[in-house]
Order: sequence, then structure tokens, then C-alpha cells
Amino acid sequence: MPFPPDFAWGTATASYQIEGAVDEDGRGPSIWDTFSHTPGNVANGDTGDVACDHYHRWADDVDLIASYGLNAYRFSVAWPRIQPTGRGAANQKGIDFYRRLVERLVEKGIRPAATLYHWDLPQALQDDGGGWQNRDIVDRFAEYATIVYEALGDGVAWWITHNEPWVAAAIGHRIGRHAPGLHDATAELRVAHHLLLSHGAAVQAFRSLGLGAPIGITLSLSPTYPQHETEADRRAAILSDGYTNRWYLDPVFRGEYPADVLDLLAEHYALDWIRDGDLTRIGQPIDFVGVNYYARRTVRAPVGGEPAEFAWVVSTEHRPDIPRSDMGWEMTPATFIDLLVRLKADYGSPPILITENGCAIDDTPGSDGAVHDPRRIDFLATHVGAVEEAIERGVDVRGYFAWSLMDNFEWGEGYRQRFGITYVDYETQRRIPKDSARWYAEVARRNGLG
Ligand code: FCB
Repeated sequence: MPFPPDFAWGTATASYQIEGAVDEDGRGPSIWDTFSHTPGNVANGDTGDVACDHYHRWADDVDLIASYGLNAYRFSVAWPRIQPTGRGAANQKGIDFYRRLVERLVEKGIRPAATLYHWDLPQALQDDGGGWQNRDIVDRFAEYATIVYEALGDGVAWWITHNEPWVAAAIGHRIGRHAPGLHDATAELRVAHHLLLSHGAAVQAFRSLGLGAPIGITLSLSPTYPQHETEADRRAAILSDGYTNRWYLDPVFRGEYPADVLDLLAEHYALDWIRDGDLTRIGQPIDFVGVNYYARRTVRAPVGGEPAEFAWVVSTEHRPDIPRSDMGWEMTPATFIDLLVRLKADYGSPPILITENGCAIDDTPGSDGAVHDPRRIDFLATHVGAVEEAIERGVDVRGYFAWSLMDNFEWGEGYRQRFGITYVDYETQRRIPKDSARWYAEVARRNGLG
């Protein structure tokens, strides 16, 4: 059995995607409220106003996790519930909500993994100097983190500073499909740096409190491959990997930005927001890295004057023999193994938590009332199999969190993409365990695929 006896079998969610209750108990508005309420940003005009109504149904949702026999659960704390304007005194009602949640999880033997930032920035901080573009946010984030550490420190089993800084920076600030919806490459690069710096600041703040639980950061890592075996495409793949993966891994693990990407970016951007001492702060020792893995990325060199992402073009061609989810994402478990083995080889064999992995498939209840989702089971089985294989090859993976506990607000896609192992009927808020939930419960019980 490759899975260690205390391996974490969990599911994951994020505050804005499930909570709803956006103006209850003193919660301030977040950039996702503003973004989703702006017509044209989210499919169907969907918003997180109600979402899965988890803010009111949290106790039943904990029971649901317990009914699956899972021993871990990853959630995120909504900054605007804790500090409605992103600064100043804590909002006690917001704290109470997460305290109750953590206490109940612990009571049921479910280890809580808390993410401090899963994209719902208080709108007031966005209005004040551009949110993550403004260096002051680093102190704001450390202050917020300290409030949460002090409130939940006795129950949380793993702390995660940020969720997917690449996505927050790139999709939020250059590609514009996530809040705050900017189209500005300079903003993206500044934001990426400040997210990383605030990670370092939050780790420092954590250490100074002397709390014992492990702390880390969750990165979206996509192993990147050349579309054609040509010199130009190989070079494009190395740079693209550098910009999405190494740009985050290298500062966190080595206290430096990757030289090849730094040179490339420095040709076009001042990068003067990177100051002396920043990299040391970002490179504080951490206890684990959270890996969110969905799919590989294939890129090629731009041709002629073709519009490119910095120096590469993300391929949209798909091989018909590779299955894809309803998001259009390829399902390639073998490249998951490559990624994990590479993390071990290149970054000193860090402890790893798989903090997200899953797929969107639009399965709905059949005439028998049940939700049969064999494609999701297949996805999860092959990816848990990849983790097993990585562990056999010596990679130190300590937990796996399926994305997601239940169908929820999938950002720009709204409610039309269903990632849950639990079906949510948004009309009635009824939760229906899908076949994949039963299958996953069995995996957790056996501590592996068996
Ligand atoms: C990740 C996000 C998560 C979810 C999945 C599908 O990028 O961290 O919130 O939306 O994608």
C-alpha cells in the first residue's frame, strides 16, 4: 500500500463559490461580487449571491463530508467576512462562522485545511490603489492572516496562504476573465509579485505566533509540452513553463525568479516593483506545497506577427484520442505523474498536498433520481492512480483533495460547469451524492484504490 496511514482524503471548496449570503452578518463586498454583477462577465449572468447557500447549510455540509468518511476538508476564508473593508478591526460574526465550521469538522474527525485567499478580495482594497497592484496590500494581508491564525489556530490542520497566484494575476489582470477583469500585462506582473510577497509576509506572521500546524501555498501547475518537436516549439514550452510554473515555484523554494523568464520580461517591463530583500521574504521555508492539477498545457512558437502570450501561443488543437471534460480540458493523468516527479527532483523533495484535482461533467439526475457519473469516476481513478505511482517513485504526497465537494459557482462559467462529487439542485439546494462520491468514499475507506 503506497498511501501512508495518515494520508489525507478530502474534498475542496472556496468561499465565494459555495457560501452565498453575500451581505449577511457584516460581510463587505468583494471583487467577485462586483465582477459577477457586471453584465457580460459571467455565463448566464450568474453570481455567487446564493451559490450553494453553504453559509446557512454548513452543518449539513459537514455531515455530508462525514457521511463520505473523508478525513480532511479544504475550504477558504472570505477576507471580506473577517475585515469587511480589508483593514481594521475584525468582524466577530465572520470569525464565528469559521470557528463553528472548524470546531464541527474537528469534532467529526475531519482535518481542516484553510486557505486564506481564494480570490475574494475586499472591494475596498481594489478601490484603494488597485488591490494587489498596490504594494501596501502585503501588510494588509499579513494583518488579515494574523486575525485568522489567532481565531482558528487551534483547529486548522494545514494553512494555505494563497490559491493559484498565477490564475489570480494572469486571468484576473491580463486575460480579464476573472475579477477584477483587467487587460493589463503590467498589472498582472505587479500583482504576481505582490501575491508572492504577501505569501512570504503571511508565513513570517505565522511563524512569529509559534503555531504548530504546517503552512504552505497552493499553485496551479500545468506541465507544459511543445506542440511539435521543433527547436522553436521546445523553446516556447520552456518559457511558458517558466512563466506559469517556475515563476512561482522558484521564488518560493529558492528565493529567486527564473533567469530565463526574468530576461524575457525585462525586455518589455520595468519590473521595478521587485525590491531588495523581497525574494528572501518570499522564499521563507514552508512545510508543504499545495498542487492543483487539472490538465497539461501544449504550446508552440508564434508564427509571423501572430498575437502571442509573451513568447508562445497556447495550442487549441486537440488530439481526438485524448478525452476531454466539459470545460474542454484534456484528461491526461500520465502528465500528472511527470509533474509530481519533477517537483521532487527540482525542488528538494517537498511534502506535497494535492489541494485540487477534478473535472467538470454535466451529469444530472437520471429517472431513478441518482446521478451516474462514470466519466468522473474514471478521471478520479486514473488521477488517484497517478498519485499512487508518484508515491511509489518516492514523491512525498501526503494528501489528495478532490475538487469539489459539491457543484458550485465556477467563476466565469457560473453554474453551468459541474465539478462536484455531490450534485446540487440550485432550485431546492438539495444535495445528491453522485456515484463518484460513493466510489471516492470507498477509496478513502481502503486508503487507496485497493
Ligand atoms: C481552480 C480553482 C477552483 C476551481 C477549479 C475548477 O483553478 O482554484 O476554485 O474553480 O479551478
